[in-house]
Amino acid sequence: MPVVAAVKKAFTNIFVLSWDVSLTLINLVSPKRKIGHVTPKGFPGHDGKWPEYIAPSSEDSRCACPALNAMANHGILPRDGKNISFKELNHAIRTTFNFAPSFCFFVPHFSADMLHKPYSKGTFDLEELSLHNGIEHDASLCREDVVHQPDQGTPHLPFIKELLATATGKDAEGNPLLTPADLSAYSSKRRVDARETNPEFTLSFFHKMFGSSNSSTLLTILGGRIKDIEPFLVDERIPDGWESRIRAPMGLTLMTFNRTVLKVERGIDEKKYLASENETAQAPATAPSPSS
Ligand code: HEM
Repeated sequence: MPVVAAVKKAFTNIFVLSWDVSLTLINLVSPKRKIGHVTPKGFPGHDGKWPEYIAPSSEDSRCACPALNAMANHGILPRDGKNISFKELNHAIRTTFNFAPSFCFFVPHFSADMLHKPYSKGTFDLEELSLHNGIEHDASLCREDVVHQPDQGTPHLPFIKELLATATGKDAEGNPLLTPADLSAYSSKRRVDARETNPEFTLSFFHKMFGSSNSSTLLTILGGRIKDIEPFLVDERIPDGWESRIRAPMGLTLMTFNRTVLKVERGIDEKKYLASENETAQAPATAPSPSS
């Protein structure tokens, strides 16, 4: 990387970090947004009223991210998923999911760099975000690895069903909740399975962290609620009446988000998953009868 670009990148990162810390501190001392008033007035989803859901056609561009696809399916981003500006993406994820402005700047900016496009004037089609080993990586929870499925724009329902079935938590009304431990356990399984079945498997430290970041949105933004996660992952649809579970006035900062991400990533234990698999394989199929 040329020196000027490296210096610019370092300054941008320092700026985003300082901004993020300030927003985290403001959140700590400010009252939360009221339930039912998280999505701002005048924006899609205010009062739980989301624009009409239309499933994508084969002409539309979609990517490996269920959240961005859902925004396109509701017309919050262009329905065809094409010619989206990075700035437009920034503003749309801010009002739709209540991520902090620091996150909403950082991730689209990172994406622009990844695609070698300028952040301020550049545009992209959703499918470009599925660049392998950019943000997209092997052992995802909602997509088969690219070696098995080059089209990363469509959900892989068997994985999603398995993930949803792992939920061990319950909310106050007894509805199922996905916990950080559930997410770690399913991520362990996916990493072991992908390693065994993908001859081109790679997963750097950086992509492990990206994986846990992406999946941690299910715990933070969606609050782990299976009844919301299911339409979000299966149909890439925002349920009627839904709003982000993040009530912090400045939104979910990178700093606060990373506490959940680190918890999920630290809980991933491929050896433990393999050991439990071996135990299941070695257990007798039926219990011995008392007379034997
Ligand atoms: C600028 C914003 C964003 C970009 C560029 C982006 C990009 C991506 C990409 C490329 C993936 C595929 C990673 C993989 O291989 O598994 C992904 C996955 C994912 N993203 Fe996003 N995303 C963004 C915002 C969001 C938001 C706001 C949410 C939640 C509200 C979200 C939730 C998810 C989830 C749940 C996954 C699936 C993880 C998995 O299958 O393991 N993303 N995202």
